[in-house]
Amino acid sequence: MSSYFIWDAQLFELGISNLDQEHQKLISLMNLIYEKNQSASPKEELLKIMNEFIDFVLLHFHHEESHMEKIKFSDLHNHRSIHHRLLSQLKQHHQDFESGSSEKINESFFDFLALWLTTHIQHFDRQYT
Ligand SMILES: [Fe+2]
Ligand SMILES: [Fe+2]
Repeated sequence: MSSYFIWDAQLFELGISNLDQEHQKLISLMNLIYEKNQSASPKEELLKIMNEFIDFVLLHFHHEESHMEKIKFSDLHNHRSIHHRLLSQLKQHHQDFESGSSEKINESFFDFLALWLTTHIQHFDRQYT
């Protein structure tokens, strides 16, 4: 089975192994949510893996921000506020799905994830390397 979100080393690899591994894990969690949604998994289960994804994102942002502090990255403040915004959008998607009547996650959530990969990881995360 082919994945919906694809890890592309050319585009995403930063050369910082722990962060690269975390980005790969983010992509596999995104695919897991996508696949579970496609196969009509119970809503409860979808909400649970969305929550696991949010927890991992929190941890990843924390690691990235520590790295940027360590190397005294000049744009840390801006990058941190982008993380903050991504996280609140992510939580909003979770909340909308939880309180909504649909048993399936809205396509806009996957559009949001795709945009995250192409803008944040491919562009902003590259700036601190
Ligand atoms: Fe990142
Ligand atoms: Fe980042």
